[in-house]
Amino acid sequence: MRTNQPQTIYLSDYKAPAFLVDQVDLCFELFEDGARVHSTLSMRQNPESGSGAPLELHGDSLKLEFLALNGTPLLAGAYQDEGDKLVIPEVPAEFELAVVTWIEPQNNTRLEGLYKSSGMFCTQCEAEGFRCITYYPDRPDVMARFRTRVEADKSAYPVLLSNGNPVEQGDLDNGRHFVTWEDPFPKPAYLFALVAGDLLEKRDTFSTCSGRNIELRMYVEPRNSEKCEYAMDALKRSMRWDEEVYGREYDLDIFMIVAVDDFNMGAMENKGLNIFNSSCVLASQDTATDAAFQRIEAIVAHEYFHNWSGNRVTCRDWFQLSLKEGFTVFRDSQFSADMGSPTVKRIEDVTLLRTAQFAEDAGPMAHPIRPASYMEITNFYTLTIYEKGAEVVRMIHNLLGEELFRKGSDLYFERHDGQAVTTDDFVRAMEDASGRDLSQFRLWYEQAGTPVVAVTDDYDESRGVYRLTIRQSIPNTPGQTDKKPQHIPFAIGLLNSAGDPLPLNLNAEERNGPLERVLELTETEHSVEFHGLPERPVPSLLRDFSAPVRVQYPWTREQLLFLMSHDPDGFNRWDAGQRLAVDVIQSLLGAPDDAAVEPRLVEAYRHLLNDIELDQALVAKMLLLPSEAYLVELSDQADVPAIHDAREQVMKHLAHALRDELVACYQRNLDQGDYQLSSEAIARRSLRNIALAWLLHIDDEQALALAGEQFDNADNMTDRLGALRALVNSGFEHERNQALAAFYQRFSEDPQVVELWFSVQASSDRAGQLPQIQQLLQHPAFDWKNPNKVRSVVGAFAGQNLAAFHSPDGSGYQFLAEQVCRLDDSNPQIAARLVSPLTRWKKFAPHYCEQMKAALERIRDKSELSRDVYEVVHKSLA
Ligand code: ARG
Ligand code: ZN
Repeated sequence: MRTNQPQTIYLSDYKAPAFLVDQVDLCFELFEDGARVHSTLSMRQNPESGSGAPLELHGDSLKLEFLALNGTPLLAGAYQDEGDKLVIPEVPAEFELAVVTWIEPQNNTRLEGLYKSSGMFCTQCEAEGFRCITYYPDRPDVMARFRTRVEADKSAYPVLLSNGNPVEQGDLDNGRHFVTWEDPFPKPAYLFALVAGDLLEKRDTFSTCSGRNIELRMYVEPRNSEKCEYAMDALKRSMRWDEEVYGREYDLDIFMIVAVDDFNMGAMENKGLNIFNSSCVLASQDTATDAAFQRIEAIVAHEYFHNWSGNRVTCRDWFQLSLKEGFTVFRDSQFSADMGSPTVKRIEDVTLLRTAQFAEDAGPMAHPIRPASYMEITNFYTLTIYEKGAEVVRMIHNLLGEELFRKGSDLYFERHDGQAVTTDDFVRAMEDASGRDLSQFRLWYEQAGTPVVAVTDDYDESRGVYRLTIRQSIPNTPGQTDKKPQHIPFAIGLLNSAGDPLPLNLNAEERNGPLERVLELTETEHSVEFHGLPERPVPSLLRDFSAPVRVQYPWTREQLLFLMSHDPDGFNRWDAGQRLAVDVIQSLLGAPDDAAVEPRLVEAYRHLLNDIELDQALVAKMLLLPSEAYLVELSDQADVPAIHDAREQVMKHLAHALRDELVACYQRNLDQGDYQLSSEAIARRSLRNIALAWLLHIDDEQALALAGEQFDNADNMTDRLGALRALVNSGFEHERNQALAAFYQRFSEDPQVVELWFSVQASSDRAGQLPQIQQLLQHPAFDWKNPNKVRSVVGAFAGQNLAAFHSPDGSGYQFLAEQVCRLDDSNPQIAARLVSPLTRWKKFAPHYCEQMKAALERIRDKSELSRDVYEVVHKSLA
């Protein structure tokens, strides 16, 4: 905690470490009032950096009990304790350093380093948590072998885990016991992990491609015994997939997953010992929605894939974070696409990217996927690093093609195994394996901001030539102006009026050109002609979202309707529908309640509802109207209540006009038989729940009965929650309250379901007005110390209940400012993340914008602001 300005750290200041660690020997003595950590470091000067530098070790909130160099205790004058650093001015070229620290996991509310979560000890060391455990060169380019002994009371903590393989265990005096773990792979400290608790063990095995047998284990609290199966299955599928698609075999004899309730992020890829937020790993049919199952599958895969893209090859410094995160998100999205519907997965990824990452990239925290500076690295675990980073890897994949990309990834892993490297090393491996020049492409790593690609066209009837003119520009972002044009792969196709794809002939002689081309835009302006076209074609632009850019083209509603039903590219079909809906909603902004809603939109939706030929998973996606958050992102001076009203108007109009089709869709998609997690079954559930939601939005009595029945009799959480959500967002107040009470009563013992219960209310404009939010905060199940609870109430309110959050009196903003200030003292990481909805204040209409700014200033003026919140608030106000 500090009030003065935190330091900015620059990539350009990077220096190789002065000292290396070969071996770390740790012993943790865990007690009820704290923990004593004995560490012995075998260190030596780094031959690659000059000698004579003092030894500097990072430390944070540590109590130093003992320090010895080569067996000789160091007295007070022989070292300096500078608060966040321990400096020993004189050390030999090679030495052994012994450090003993006392820490208090029980009082660790930041959830960084070693802490306690519902009775168990666990760790989170990425990015800089290891320094909260002991003094250490806590940077990813210092890689060492770890041997870890854990000692604790045997009855309270029968399970003692760390990275690698267990090599020794036994009983100690006073009912205590110990286990020693050894990790043969050198690793940075951020991949260190320890768990101690009274945990249930689930076992399975996996036989690798070379025939090695791996022990798979999940450790959970006994009450979660029935919620492990799905994650274990997803793990085995991930292990197989990484062998088949990337040729990556698992390297230790044991792989462990632990679920903890209090966790700042989703999960963590610690070597051999992945630690998960309970909500990202535990699931059963009764308690988890389809979306939760899919998220679990993706996160289990993500953490597992890190074993190669992150652990075997790691980051040189934290500016390179996207090296492991962008690549690994790309890998997990490929995996999810292979496990389910690729088009639906693409739609989901792009929805997140365009709604939230584009907003980040246009806001005060915008940064390139390889940032040039930061104050607090935790603030840089962003959608830009993760999702845009994944899009950049996807573009490389598409530019090189499947085979050369695999050659490039093989080369990358082979060349850099056991090293800490940079994004540039990754790109170079791709270049070397493929022979392609990616020098201009590298700008994607250096320039922030979402490129705008503006397309115009003209058709010369006499010559049968259609010309596209494509201009790219990249908006200014903090600290970056006058950007250079980037290398943009731009996939397109052309359709004739019958809806057939046309050959893309680049000159008058070409006859049977391909039906799709990827244009490589490298200049500010690019123009291309297509020949042999007897009529003006309809262009299908940026197919499958081939680059993370905003496309501008003067589509007519006619063209969008046409693409919605004819584009062979599933993604673009969906996108055409979204663009049409956006256009219709935007045209109703500020219009009277009875203003006409575009009848062709209604007919398009009617057609979709009746279309049983089209992939039903795609239909379900196409029926979802663009979210309020996306509509805000698309506007200049957003007036949220007006956006909310216009969107409501369209939804209600559609629901009234399509009432019978919606009822029929509901009935047609009722499940017979057992609960399944296939794409088809998921699509059916999603269709019937969309129908229910729309019908209850207009307070349809028949739908009320259907919802009640579904709520009472559902055999799975998707349907039960779908019914609850529909009731909560309806005008049937009595039934809403009844259902909420019944739901809570049924699931009050299950924290993950209680989180759903909180967020259904907090994200609803009907059940989540500020006084109701205040009540939820008083609820006995709410807990300020648990990040999931904070996210499910405060996060859901500010991030998803836009109409209530942007209440014209500014009360939502003031509320958020208060909660940020309160949380900043206990958990700065979570506090800084909660600020995010306020950071975009410049985007809103003047009345809102001023009040958002005032709320930010209120946070800024709090005494003792953490570095995390300081950075976000000051950059937002700059
Ligand atoms: N490496 C983890 C993942 O993406 C994220 C951990 C970030 N933790 C943090 N406290 N910033 O899988
Ligand atoms: Zn990750």
